[in-house]
Amino acid sequence: MNAGPTLKWNEGDAQSLRPKYLPRSAWIGHGPFAMWLVQAIAPRVIVELGTHNGYSYFSMCQAIKDAGLQSKAYAVDTWQGDDHAGFYSDQVYQVVALANQPYENFSTLLRKRFDQALPDIAAGSVDLLHVDSRHGYEDVKEDFESWIPKLSDRAIVLFHDTEVLDRGFGVYKYWAELTKKHTGFAFRQSHGLGVLFFGANQTDAAKVLIGQASTPEGIDQLRQRFVKLGRGTRLRYVGQRAIQRIASFFQVQRS
Ligand SMILES: C[S@@+](CC[C@H](N)C(=O)[O-])C[C@H]1O[C@@H](n2cnc3c(N)ncnc32)[C@H](O)[C@@H]1O
Repeated sequence: MNAGPTLKWNEGDAQSLRPKYLPRSAWIGHGPFAMWLVQAIAPRVIVELGTHNGYSYFSMCQAIKDAGLQSKAYAVDTWQGDDHAGFYSDQVYQVVALANQPYENFSTLLRKRFDQALPDIAAGSVDLLHVDSRHGYEDVKEDFESWIPKLSDRAIVLFHDTEVLDRGFGVYKYWAELTKKHTGFAFRQSHGLGVLFFGANQTDAAKVLIGQASTPEGIDQLRQRFVKLGRGTRLRYVGQRAIQRIASFFQVQRS
């Protein structure tokens, strides 16, 4: 990586990088970074492989809407679950479809397998791909590599679970291979998030991010900043769940 100018943080970030949609998710600490990244690189097309309750996806949709970007976003999931996330009921999709309504003019839910969704997306069009599906080494490798033809020359790819070393997860191993060939860095909170600069012609904003992540002080500052913002999001999630539990307790008492 080449050191370059460091990122300028806006003091209003803590207010603007606040995901509003807070369902249960192992991704919770990455929402502010995902929002920041979307607004910094203004991706023309975003694809997410693995959406489940929609936390990561709607964080990115919120960022698109808040910034008035022209991006198109696609969430791909069977909304049936898998042997890692667990299998779940159709209600999950119904709730996600409702949450998608404010974003319908740019966001499409593709309820199908990842391989079945390939014809829906133009070759070379995806500026931001998020891979968060099954987490075995072969799974993540296959999911990502089958989508490579869809990536643009400025593509960034996010990989969740780069910090999980047990339970048969193999993202960390694949991530280590990828970063031998491509520039990337990872956050450690919320099971880890790898940020891979895959395309050869990265945007100016991405180049600044690469520069920041290339020095020990720069990457520390970057991680600390988003750990702090992610912690704030987690606290809001915990608070919201507590309020929901109290409200349903009183409803049961009344009925
Ligand atoms: C870990 S969850 C996604 C979590 C989500 N990104 C979040 O923010 O919490 C993985 C999802 O991938 C979906 N999935 C796994 N393999 C799939 C495949 N081959 N095709 C479509 N969906 C798949 C599952 O249905 C599950 O909802």
